Amino acid sequence: MDGDHAPVLQAALAAAAGARLEIEIGCGNGIFLADYAAARPDSICVGIDLKQRRCEKAQRKLQRRGLPNAFVINGRAEEVIERLPPGSVHAFHLYFPDPWPKARHRRRRFLRGDVLDRMVNALAAGGRILFATDFLDYQVQGRVLFAYHPELLLDDAAAPRGADRSTFAVRLAGVGAGMRLACAYKRPA
Ligand SMILES: C[S@@+](CC[C@H](N)C(=O)[O-])C[C@H]1O[C@@H](n2cnc3c(N)ncnc32)[C@H](O)[C@@H]1O
Repeated sequence: MDGDHAPVLQAALAAAAGARLEIEIGCGNGIFLADYAAARPDSICVGIDLKQRRCEKAQRKLQRRGLPNAFVINGRAEEVIERLPPGSVHAFHLYFPDPWPKARHRRRRFLRGDVLDRMVNALAAGGRILFATDFLDYQVQGRVLFAYHPELLLDDAAAPRGADRSTFAVRLAGVGAGMRLACAYKRPA
């Protein structure tokens, strides 16, 4: 894994022809990705993470478990999303992205208007964005962004299955932090 994500992305997109494509942004060491891909053999599941060592761990997990439907891309998710064909993604999973809690750092948060536009462009009609955080104001930020996006509808009934077993979800549950959700789907055309 050398940061050149084009070949892995191409392989994942080829595998996704005729299948559901699901993208996990910030997959860390791949616990959610591996469990989710094992539970959904009909989906092509692609995890993206900035950190090479986490990607390597995730890749080893996928290999150990023999999951041909799962891929790991080492790169900036913003850039990878831009290269996804419009309307190709059935779900984006965004679990516990870095919260950047200080006010002066908030603009570094992953979920922001320009990135959301790219995600929505890549989403298929009816495709979902599933977001979990332990920060109340990040949850509110997500809900406001979704609610005011002309192509999205908030979906309070959506339940991100398995997100509570990610490394950060387990770590945060251990210190009593709750999982705060914001979910939406793309309006049918
Ligand atoms: C707080 S960790 C959460 C990891 C995992 N989702 C979990 O719940 O255990 C955030 C992860 O997002 C990754 N990350 C941060 N910014 C990113 C970006 N722009 N593109 C891809 N990955 C990113 C970090 O490297 C880190 O592994």
